[in-house]
Amino acid sequence: MQLLDGKALSLEIEAKVKEEVMILTSSRGVTPGLAVILVGSDPASQAYVNMKAKACKRAGIYSITHEMPESTTESQLLNAISILNNDPNIDGILVQLPLPKHINTAKVLEAIAPHKDVDGFHPQNVGRLTSNLGGFAPATPMGVMRLLQKYGIDPQGKNAVIVGASNIVGKPMASLLLNANATTTLCHIYTKDLASHTQNADILCVGVGKPNLITESMVKKGVVVIDIGINRLEDGSLVGDVDFASVAPKCSYITPVPGGVGPMTIASLLENTLKAAKTRQETPQS
Ligand code: GUN
Repeated sequence: MQLLDGKALSLEIEAKVKEEVMILTSSRGVTPGLAVILVGSDPASQAYVNMKAKACKRAGIYSITHEMPESTTESQLLNAISILNNDPNIDGILVQLPLPKHINTAKVLEAIAPHKDVDGFHPQNVGRLTSNLGGFAPATPMGVMRLLQKYGIDPQGKNAVIVGASNIVGKPMASLLLNANATTTLCHIYTKDLASHTQNADILCVGVGKPNLITESMVKKGVVVIDIGINRLEDGSLVGDVDFASVAPKCSYITPVPGGVGPMTIASLLENTLKAAKTRQETPQS
């Protein structure tokens, strides 16, 4: 069994982004800019937003964080996005999810200019990903693909099974694996006999948010396990969705939690922001 070291790969990617940012700045006078909008004061979201801002700083990417109160109205949020859509110094806009219940998330995500949608959540980018037409892919599944690539794991012809069908993780993960020619199964809360699917997986990606959802009897020997879950237990420790102690010995590769997929999400966001900045002058402002 070998660990898929997301921490190490994320540092490699960060260094490469930093170098490319310097080249972009010196050759074209463009410094990539990311705007992060946080509505409310959910501690986990605050922690993620802080990590994103720090990573930008390390990579030489200009970033601003808009902290808006829980009571922000939908139209106030739409207005903030509109200003950022028209801000020439901002290449990427990220609205941290989840949003408060009184705000229509779909409407907000659709208001972000598709060429600044570094999270890949705008329906235009979702459609481009589904049709394998480029655009921005969501950071977490993109990070997973980078990890597989780094360790020479080619999804082509493999049985890839994804557990969890969220818009942020499971669905784009399925699109990316399908685009990489895996036979792809997407399992979710209504899936009957989950184990019968997971036992068939050559590559198993799990992003549900339930500790110990995947146990030893649910996987076959030699499986590649990608644990996308992050759960904080009562004792303060962080665990994924996979019972690491019992499952790891059966795996060819497995991601640790923490230090697996988590750091890759942030590295992919930096990559997407750099990519947006590279097209800054070629895209009309909207
Ligand atoms: N909330 C949980 N994951 C994400 C993410 O990747 N992007 C945003 N914007 N919000 C999230």
